[in-house]
Amino acid sequence: MNNQPVDTEVKTRAALEPLLSEGEIERRVGQLAEQLAKDYAGRDLLVVGVLKGAFIFLADLLRRLNKLGLNPQVDFIRAASYGADTRSSGWVKVFLDVSLPVEGRDVLVVDDIVDSGRTLGHICERLRGLGAASVRCCVLLDKPARREVPFHPDYVGFEIPDRFVVGYGLDKAELWRGMPDIAMT
Ligand code: IMP
Ligand code: MG
Repeated sequence: MNNQPVDTEVKTRAALEPLLSEGEIERRVGQLAEQLAKDYAGRDLLVVGVLKGAFIFLADLLRRLNKLGLNPQVDFIRAASYGADTRSSGWVKVFLDVSLPVEGRDVLVVDDIVDSGRTLGHICERLRGLGAASVRCCVLLDKPARREVPFHPDYVGFEIPDRFVVGYGLDKAELWRGMPDIAMT
């Protein structure tokens, strides 16, 4: 077993500043699910979660959607953006692509947070390129002050300030994803 200490600045819960409580998140996820259930009623929906950060939001959202009568197919994509040190140099690599058919489908991309907009911008373009009938994006968090490319998520849980946040799927150095609330580092 590797017992190397994890190299991260934030090691204790006490060092984090609370932003969104479990209750606030739960209520907002419920509202998003109600909106989505209305907008996609009777449609052939494919939900695409963006790994890794979306896994907890997606799990809660899907169970809400199911209770509201929506039973979408689910797939995952894994991508990351790099080299965004200048406004034009950022590029996005896809590590794991969707495996279900996309052509002619209504696709909803679900992610934890939109920051520069590069990752989701690229993923949505890619899904349109695969022939999706429609592509919309649902994020739990939006940091509009950080946008570097024009990207507008269709469904947003919360707009948040330009601070690095962890919890509810979001990590810092792969830690804190399992924390049920969201806090600022
Ligand atoms: P973008 O391409 O710059 O929009 O990158 C978005 C990705 O960066 C998200 O999916 C997260 O994985 C990561 N990210 C951006 N801001 C934060 C944050 O505050 N906490 C944790 N991860 C973040
Ligand atoms: Mg992510």
